[in-house]
Amino acid sequence: PRSVWLSRHGESLYNLYGRIGGDADLSERGHQYAKRLPDLVRESVGGDRPLTVWTSTLKRTISTARHLPDNYNQLQWKALDELDAGVCDGMTYQEIKDVYPDDFIARDEDKYNYRYRGGESYRDVVIRLEPIIMELERSEDILIVTHQAILRCIYAYFMKKDQTKSPWMNVPLHCLIKLTPRAYGTDEVRYQADI
Ligand code: F6P
Repeated sequence: PRSVWLSRHGESLYNLYGRIGGDADLSERGHQYAKRLPDLVRESVGGDRPLTVWTSTLKRTISTARHLPDNYNQLQWKALDELDAGVCDGMTYQEIKDVYPDDFIARDEDKYNYRYRGGESYRDVVIRLEPIIMELERSEDILIVTHQAILRCIYAYFMKKDQTKSPWMNVPLHCLIKLTPRAYGTDEVRYQADI
C-alpha cells in the first residue's frame, strides 16, 4: 500500500473506569476525538482523496468513525475486535489480580503467549490478523480504527518490529498514525489530537 492510517477508538467509558474488553460507548472525550478525526485525516492525506475505513464490530470503533465524510466507504471486521479477555472480560486489572493471581503473574511473565481463560493471547491475535494483513497489502488508502492490542500487532508488522515485544508497546489514545512503507523502511507520522 502507499500508506496505511491507524487509530485507536476514542476514549470509551471502560477506558475511564479501567475495565478491559466489553462493548462500551465512547466517553465525552471519546466523542470529541470522533468529531476531530475528519480534520486530522484531511490534514494527513493532504487533499480530498477519500479513504476506506475499516473498523471492528464494536460500538467504540464504529462511533469513532461516525463523522468521517460520506464518500469514505466503511467496512466492519470481526477480526479487528479487541483481544478476547475471556473470563476476565469487563474486569479491572486489580480485579484480575485478586480473582486470578496466578494468571496475572503468568501474563506479566509472558504477555505474548499468555492466553486468557476462554479467550486469546497476542499470539492468537497475530494469527487471526493474517487475512487483514493480506487484504491490506493489496489495498490502497485504508484507515483502520481499532483497539490497543490489535493496533500493537498491526503496527509491529508494518514497522518490522519483533511481534513478541508488541504487547508492551505504547499506542496513545486520540492519535492518528500514518505509516508509509518505503524501500528502506516505513515512514511514520503521528497526528495527536489536543483533547
Ligand atoms: O484497556 C483497553 C484495552 O484495549 C483492553 O480492552 C484490552 O484488554 C487491553 O487494552 C489490552 O492491553 P494489555 O494487553 O496491555 O492488557
